[in-house]
Amino acid sequence: MRLSALFTLSTIYGALGVSLPTKRATICNGHAELCTRPYGNTTFLGSHDSYAFSSDPLALARDQEVDIPTQLGLGVRFLQAEGHLNDGVLHFCHTSCLLFDGGTVVDYLTTVKTWLDANPNEVLTLLFTNSDGLSIPDVWEPTFVAAGIDTVSYVPPNNPMTRSDWPTLGEMIDSGKRVITFMDAGADGTDGAPVDYILPEFTMLWEPPFDSTEPSFPCSVDRIAGPLSTVDHLNMLNHNLDINVLDTGVLVSDPEDASTTNGVASILADANGCAPLAGGVAPNFVMLDFVNIGAGLQAVDELNGFSS
Ligand SMILES: *[C@@H]1O[C@H](CO)[C@@H](O)[C@H](O)[C@H]1NC(C)=O
Repeated sequence: MRLSALFTLSTIYGALGVSLPTKRATICNGHAELCTRPYGNTTFLGSHDSYAFSSDPLALARDQEVDIPTQLGLGVRFLQAEGHLNDGVLHFCHTSCLLFDGGTVVDYLTTVKTWLDANPNEVLTLLFTNSDGLSIPDVWEPTFVAAGIDTVSYVPPNNPMTRSDWPTLGEMIDSGKRVITFMDAGADGTDGAPVDYILPEFTMLWEPPFDSTEPSFPCSVDRIAGPLSTVDHLNMLNHNLDINVLDTGVLVSDPEDASTTNGVASILADANGCAPLAGGVAPNFVMLDFVNIGAGLQAVDELNGFSS
């Protein structure tokens, strides 16, 4: 009886050219509350130089200890990475591919897509840097297509989007378009024709200074662009502390201090320091080195209003 009723209903819907209401996600990014929370009002845990992972303590150019699936398993939902060409192929490398080569971008994005397919109720943000000015349509986009990330990428209705324009996590998950990609340079049309799901970062997301050597993370608006006001931009914490090696000006991350830097007290203090610039609200992204150390997810849960 119920089956035939459903069949009739779907036949009527079909005849009217509308599809049956699809099943709604009830848990989004691990929390029921986040299904109705707009993307612009959510805090996500982020990984700085996510591809630059190594368990070798002598690998000074590493900023992470654990690989991408492990980072995602720890609750990371914002992956930052730096693109460079190596022998004509797009790789993620730290400053130069001679210093640290994290492999091809296609392999990286394929790993991410495998995780997305296994975790359909998760919204993920990518922040890639393009300091060599590589073509967005000719060099970057083919890697998204090869990995299938284009098929799950969110295309915003406005560009730029204000912080309050973004849909809820539930809407993104229900639509299947749950990957948001920002690019620091070139996505505004300066490096080839724009690709509609590779979004210019600074017109929508402002950054405080990066590579701080001050554990107090003094906050200021360091990089921003476009017509939107600061409070209409998303915002992030560059909460990764560097040490200046023997005062040479060479900055490296320090796993020794990560348990303090990635502790709840340090992260919440940084968030409070940036809040006056962000209209009094929490940051959208908390980006850390060594995400497997400390209590990054706990701090993010608290910023989202969950006690853990
Ligand atoms: C979300 O909104 C609440 C209520 O205004 C606010 O306390 C919180 O800081 C906001 N979070 C973000 C990331 O905007």
